[in-house]
Amino acid sequence: MTRRVTKAVFPVAGMGTRFLPATKAVPKEILTLVDRPLIQYAIDEARAAGITEFIFVTSRGKSALEDYFDLAPELESKLEKSGKTELLEILRSTNMESGAIAYIRQHQALGLGHAVWCARRLIGDEPFAVILPDDVISAEVPCLQQMVEAHAETGGNMVAAMEVPREKVSAYGVLDVAEVRGRVLKVRGMVEKPPVDKAPSQLAVIGRYILTPKVLENLGQMRKGAGGEIQLTDAIAAEIGSSDGIYGLRFQGQRFDCGSKAGFLQATLAFGLARPDLRDDLMEFVEDVVAARRAAQ
Ligand code: UTP
Repeated sequence: MTRRVTKAVFPVAGMGTRFLPATKAVPKEILTLVDRPLIQYAIDEARAAGITEFIFVTSRGKSALEDYFDLAPELESKLEKSGKTELLEILRSTNMESGAIAYIRQHQALGLGHAVWCARRLIGDEPFAVILPDDVISAEVPCLQQMVEAHAETGGNMVAAMEVPREKVSAYGVLDVAEVRGRVLKVRGMVEKPPVDKAPSQLAVIGRYILTPKVLENLGQMRKGAGGEIQLTDAIAAEIGSSDGIYGLRFQGQRFDCGSKAGFLQATLAFGLARPDLRDDLMEFVEDVVAARRAAQ
């Protein structure tokens, strides 16, 4: 039987250069979509999937993240006294159980694979999830939950996969698929950031993974891949042909690349329009802006 996945790694040690100057002082994961930081969406998704241990791989300048997960007793009592029960509920829903979060440092930004490897001692000998908070996924059933359910059937390693336009493949890890079983894909190859003409498909890997401890062992070899970084994709790809194998899940939902400015703005708009308290005003504003632009053309 496949072991239940209860640990998730959140690699948040990157420098977030695409959001400079904001990320000079604020970690990218604290930037907000409407009123929730990116990291909160990632935590909520992990919790929905049954994760109970949350491992953050951080770096210098990320202390705002640790503060974010502290309790805020002064704030809570102020809201309580002033009868702001709705806000109090929202605030309390972000509280984490004592001891559920661990922070580990990646001392040098040697790549995503290296960041995950830094968490090896906290992961131990069991399957674990990796969530990149940059990828925000709006879905009826949260993406990691879809993966945990599929993984219970397949075991092995699983990555979240989505179709991307041909000209964008070189920005992703790309799958070579051997077999399609509904939404589950049996993978026979994986290439990180291939040139468009060398990409085996248009199925890109995005920031959700369920991995075996063997991948940590592979990472321990410290092989540099694309961009001179220690790539997670390469350590997963090394499992092709092993008894564990690799599966892709074409998840249901809409993914926003909040590591890019365009993706972040699109997510802000989509999440704003999904909020009943904001929808009408925002929609009216967007329609006015679009009409004014059209008139000016
Ligand atoms: P990105 O490639 O988006 O890099 O990392 P970044 O530093 O976050 O952002 P830019 O490109 O400079 O704007 C993808 C994920 O991997 C983590 C990042 O924190 C992010 O969650 N990461 C990347 C690490 O934790 N360590 C690394 O050495 C590299």
